[in-house]
Amino acid sequence: MLVRMFSVMVKKFLDFPSRSALYNSIHLPWFARLTLLHYHSGGPTMAMIALKCPDIEVVVLDINEARIAAWNSPKLPIYEPGLEEVVQQCRGRNLFFSTEVEKHVAEADMIFVSVNTPTKTAGVGAGKAADLTYWEGAARMIASVSKTSKIIVEKSTVPVKTAEAIEKVLKRNCSDSSVEFDILSNPEFLAEGTAISDLQKPDRVLIGGKDTERGRKAIDVLASVYAHWIPEERILKTNLWSAELSKLTANAMLAQRISSVNSISALCEATGADIQQVSKAIGTDSRIGGKFLNASVGFGGSCFQKDILNLVYICESVGLSEVARYWESVVTMNDYQKQRFVERIISAMFNTIKKKKIAIYGFAFKKDTGDTRETPAIDVCRGLLADGANLCIYDPQVEDKQVRLDLATPKFEWDHPVSKASPVSNDDNITTTKDPFEAIDGAHAICILTEWDEFKSYDYQKIYDSMVKPAFIFDGRNVLDHDKLREIGFVVYALGKPLDPFLSNGYN
Ligand code: UDX
Repeated sequence: MLVRMFSVMVKKFLDFPSRSALYNSIHLPWFARLTLLHYHSGGPTMAMIALKCPDIEVVVLDINEARIAAWNSPKLPIYEPGLEEVVQQCRGRNLFFSTEVEKHVAEADMIFVSVNTPTKTAGVGAGKAADLTYWEGAARMIASVSKTSKIIVEKSTVPVKTAEAIEKVLKRNCSDSSVEFDILSNPEFLAEGTAISDLQKPDRVLIGGKDTERGRKAIDVLASVYAHWIPEERILKTNLWSAELSKLTANAMLAQRISSVNSISALCEATGADIQQVSKAIGTDSRIGGKFLNASVGFGGSCFQKDILNLVYICESVGLSEVARYWESVVTMNDYQKQRFVERIISAMFNTIKKKKIAIYGFAFKKDTGDTRETPAIDVCRGLLADGANLCIYDPQVEDKQVRLDLATPKFEWDHPVSKASPVSNDDNITTTKDPFEAIDGAHAICILTEWDEFKSYDYQKIYDSMVKPAFIFDGRNVLDHDKLREIGFVVYALGKPLDPFLSNGYN
């Protein structure tokens, strides 16, 4: 039985005489279901495969018609520098976007699954464990429509051993016993805002599969796709669990660096040291390296917090409570940093911000993206609103609707599909604007929450003139020229830097 199924796979993927014949036989739909926000890795990755492999047909699937229509239009549903050019080159050639999910899944030889894996909000593991509802739903659908064997590639970040569970669902739900599924884990390491260059020149591509002959062949098939443009030595092949765990660990360790630096930023403020100098000093040690050492108001994004909590849950499940507490502290420190920032603002502004207009510059979780998932701006804005501030929010890429949705969405709910019933904040104390100068007009303070480059080039003298005095700037990303701002007359709070006398004399 195994031999027969195995031979089907081999014929389909590996026994072709030439490389191009092999690729002609492969269709690579990317199956994404329901998610508004999970496109950031899936869409660009599939577009890059289509660009680099003109002999492979790639179909990106989603049941959401509006989103597929946007992928097929000049204005793509996500903002990612360089993505538009890539899509334009291959859309209609070998890259297609469709809502005909079942048809294309049935026809596919390889399916990348990049569905949401939210943090559970209820039941066992609430607040930590990953909810695999969407993954399981995808697996059941794939099984029900499959008439040919397929390689299933995990693209979503999933708990360790998900592949095993998914394999069981696939096997038990496919009516055709000749159909075989080979599961691979191929975690995505791209970061938003730099997705296209990350995809073009990744540090590594990681492919995990079963340590069997068949599993290794499936790994080789996927590796041969990436080999179109990525040197062989950068394609790492591991077992399934190592690949799944590597993704969680990579994100946890990156986040840990930020939390470590953020913890020291608090100490810098208390001692008169400067976090940027400290980061530079430690980053020049080649064993530490200079990346991910920028102190900030907190890390955000769809991965870091979720993956750490997932790791914490896995550790707890296997009885490693000390390990769980160790990783959990990375999230605790991140929450502390956001809270500390809010408290700093309130204390600096004479312990009352009620009815004071505060301009929020930047709402996205980092620059060059319109993505707001787990952005620190949500917690900072909520903290300021709780003390009665009037917020005027400006972000070059984030729409009013998104801000209101984010500020009303309960913790961990953002990763579920948005529906008409999703809550939206109508708080009168929130306004948004597309004009950064409107945001500061009559404001008492500016909070920089995202490091958008344009913030550096504003005319701060003009801004100062339009603000209530004393005019405060709270730079949560250390992107502005603080000395120049002080010369103009601003009271400046720069994260992790020696405090202005104005701030250290009694109001903190
Ligand atoms: C991250 C990982 O980098 C990527 O490999 C993975 O595939 C997905 O998760 P992303 O969330 O897109 O990517 O952004 P990243 O650049 O890692 O930044 C995450 C958060 O950390 C942002 O809020 C960013 O502002 C913050 N950050 C980053 C800091 O506060 N300081 C730093 O030095 C770096």
